[in-house]
Amino acid sequence: MKSMINAIVTEELTRIFKTYVLKGYYESGWEHGGVFLYNIWKRLRAEKTMVQALKGINLRVREGEFVFLVGPNGSGKTTLIRILATFLLPTSGKAFVAGYDVTHQKREVLKNISYIPSLLAGAAWAHVGLTVGENLKIMARLFGYSEKTLDEALRTLEIEDLKNRVFGSLSTGQQARVVLALGMIKNAPIFLLDEPTLGLSPEAVRIVLDYLKYLNEKMKVTILYATHHLMEAQKMADRVVFLKDGTILVDGDPKSIIRSVGITETIILEIHHAYFDIGKVLHEIEDRCIFTNAELLESETGEYVVKLGVKDSGEVLPEIIHKLVSRGSRIKNVKVLEPSLEDAFMYYARRGPGSAEIQGNS
Ligand SMILES: Nc1ncnc2c1ncn2[C@@H]1O[C@H](COP(=O)(O)OP(=O)(O)OP(=O)(O)O)[C@@H](O)[C@H]1O
Ligand SMILES: [Mg+2]
Repeated sequence: MKSMINAIVTEELTRIFKTYVLKGYYESGWEHGGVFLYNIWKRLRAEKTMVQALKGINLRVREGEFVFLVGPNGSGKTTLIRILATFLLPTSGKAFVAGYDVTHQKREVLKNISYIPSLLAGAAWAHVGLTVGENLKIMARLFGYSEKTLDEALRTLEIEDLKNRVFGSLSTGQQARVVLALGMIKNAPIFLLDEPTLGLSPEAVRIVLDYLKYLNEKMKVTILYATHHLMEAQKMADRVVFLKDGTILVDGDPKSIIRSVGITETIILEIHHAYFDIGKVLHEIEDRCIFTNAELLESETGEYVVKLGVKDSGEVLPEIIHKLVSRGSRIKNVKVLEPSLEDAFMYYARRGPGSAEIQGNS
């Protein structure tokens, strides 16, 4: 293996998709279909629009790092990972994986990565009538992977007992673990994972994450892991990169990111019968809050969850309760919690671009 200092480097990475939007066919959330839908719309030849998916991403993931890539729907996570996995070309900019250029050295890049878009979808390659062991052997031969590590992979993922089971009889979580075992026998130094745990049970998610931690710590595998699980990121990640609208808004370790926002407490109020302009009420206390947010749960019953990031809850809480109750709403629940990564991202998402690179000192 080529020696690496920077496992992944991108400079000014940009991706612009041309889309052809036909009235009536456009649905929000279609991006989950990705490239496939792009082709269909292209053939329909209608009005032309451009989607700027990545806007000059600069990212450096060093060898041995475990980086969580997070961000709302459509922020560019999949596009970024697909470029690194050589399935999409950048429109401009450069990207290197294990020192190889994704545009000109595709084969070398592919040798160095395990790209896992979804553990559930990954099970599609398997022959349902054959056993797990037989399936893995076939795949190992097909891709030229060593079979020596096969038993070790099964042991690590706690699925040794499944080796002689017919693949088609396994639960979805068990199938997902078999797919991970395949990624492991490839023995690649870099794993690119795009929401691999989507659709898995919490127990299966835990096993996958424990396994990734093992790969990273014991086998020194570099991991870039796109996910929506912010609690997992907060608990496990050494480094989190937060993408929004194709731009990196914040990059650092969870504790430092949370600290950088300056919140010491998060107040969460669940209220109902709020038939007035909550935004206006929050505006009145804005100067004492680091961020404010109200989420409507049910308009008929006037149910909201109000979140306030504050330095001192004692200073804000009595006043906000008074303001809400005096306007006729009822308080269902009040919590004062330690701030979370989600709160910090809410703050950075509001603040917009001007990316913050946070130096970890926790
Ligand atoms: N093949 C495509 N053609 C056109 N636009 C696309 C294509 N793939 C993605 N996009 C657009 O690029 C932007 C980034 O999408 P991407 O799939 O990278 O986001 P994401 O962060 O992975 O979102 P999610 O969390 O929903 O998976 C979105 O605006 C999306 O609509
Ligand atoms: Mg995605």
